[in-house]
Amino acid sequence: MNIVTASSQIAYCLTEGTEIHDEGQGIVVVSPFFQVAISPLGPGLKQVFSGLAQSPCSMRWINATIDAAHEEGMLMTCYRYLSSLMRHQMCHISVISESSGEPLATLYPTSASFQHKWIHVQPEQLYRLSRFAYMHRGEDEECWLESPLSHALLTVQSKLVADLLYQLATARTPLELARMTGEGSLDTVADVLTLLLMGNFAAATTDDAQLAEEHDVALRQWEFHDLLFHSRSRGGRHSNPLGGTYRFLYELPAQPVIKPAPWPVTVQLPQPDMERIQRTDPTLSLAMEKRASIRTYNEEHPITKEQISEFLYRVAHIKDVYTYGESGELTRRPYPGGGASYELECYLTVDRCSGLAFGLYWYDPLKHTLSLVREPDNDTERLLIDAGQSMGEDSRPQVLITLAARFQRVSWKYQSIAYALILKDAGVFYATMYLVASAMNLAPCAIGAGDSDLFASLIGSDYYQETSVGEFALGSR
Ligand SMILES: Cc1cc2nc3c(=O)[nH]c(=O)nc-3n(C[C@H](O)[C@H](O)[C@H](O)COP(=O)(O)O)c2cc1C
Repeated sequence: MNIVTASSQIAYCLTEGTEIHDEGQGIVVVSPFFQVAISPLGPGLKQVFSGLAQSPCSMRWINATIDAAHEEGMLMTCYRYLSSLMRHQMCHISVISESSGEPLATLYPTSASFQHKWIHVQPEQLYRLSRFAYMHRGEDEECWLESPLSHALLTVQSKLVADLLYQLATARTPLELARMTGEGSLDTVADVLTLLLMGNFAAATTDDAQLAEEHDVALRQWEFHDLLFHSRSRGGRHSNPLGGTYRFLYELPAQPVIKPAPWPVTVQLPQPDMERIQRTDPTLSLAMEKRASIRTYNEEHPITKEQISEFLYRVAHIKDVYTYGESGELTRRPYPGGGASYELECYLTVDRCSGLAFGLYWYDPLKHTLSLVREPDNDTERLLIDAGQSMGEDSRPQVLITLAARFQRVSWKYQSIAYALILKDAGVFYATMYLVASAMNLAPCAIGAGDSDLFASLIGSDYYQETSVGEFALGSR
């Protein structure tokens, strides 16, 4: 049975901001982003598109209109044109309640790769929600169903559809779903399911009651949060603004270029002799060849305050502060940083170092000083133990460097990519630390994970404003 085409509840609607202009022989469809010209059009097709310009058009009405115009073979053409409008995000599809006339759910394409394909729902076939589908509240009052597997989003506009989504956590047939949801007739269930299938939010199960995505070797190895982060922070399958949009320019102040730290300066670090260093340093190729992760230290001669000073200066000191357009104040540093935002702060948990008292310090890259954030205690001990465990060795870092991001320094300017940029910046910082440590004959090792909640409480910051995004162990060889 082909439930879809029997339905009068599925309707095509023009998306807000899109207009259809009659151009005699054909039409021109205009949205804020695209323009699509369709010409020539027979009377049936013309009637369909002028209908669409006025109000939602049900599939049944579209089919009947083309049929009545005796335009043989034009039905496929009509849906091809509608596909083009969908791919240009000029048109969307709703399931509209026959009793109330209100939409139950609406599918909005979000990219040009959207597949406008009708999959015929079978009443006795099992269907299930993808493990990548999730619902959240949008900026307005609507509930959105989204998925990193989808090139569309679906607004959930009724309790009936919310119930169906809940039931589809388990594989169910449309017949079962119609019985369970009570008020939902089989036709309505099938209509909603067709939108879920078209949007790739749900699929028919295979013979073992699993979804194809569960057999897909690549997809099985993607965790939900990783794939969502990847798809939302790259272009391709969403229509969100992406890049340096300065969305808070006139609304919120930018974070200051230098962290206004609450801690007084504790240690004036010696200025390294950069001329001597430039004369005596190994070449870049030698430093790169020698570079290795080293997890054991020379405990007889632990790292010194002078070495830490030279290391921090060479990796992270501020060379210059300047002003650049809407970005405000920016800095120049030895390592590159996305948008020159330089949101990463460098904290040192000093455990064994000659010349520096134990404790947690913040590095001021402008003054080249250290400020004591807190004396050693159980929590700083926890940081060192965790780092030691991550390195899989008995020894723990002589000095643990924690990179913390002042997130809003980046998210004030960048949309969609802010956190991805921060992690890339952390990678750049790691590479710079590795190379400088290699040139200085120190023992460096990056660490892949840490406790950001613990770190925020240690430095007394708001987790959403500043906390750790990376850790790095350093010591003597
Ligand atoms: C992002 C990143 C995370 C890492 N995390 C850890 C870690 O948690 N524990 C560890 O012992 N080594 C860690 N490493 C070091 C790698 O294991 C090491 O770079 C890799 O094995 C290659 O060895 P090499 O650095 O000596 O050339 C990390 C390296 C990077 C770049």
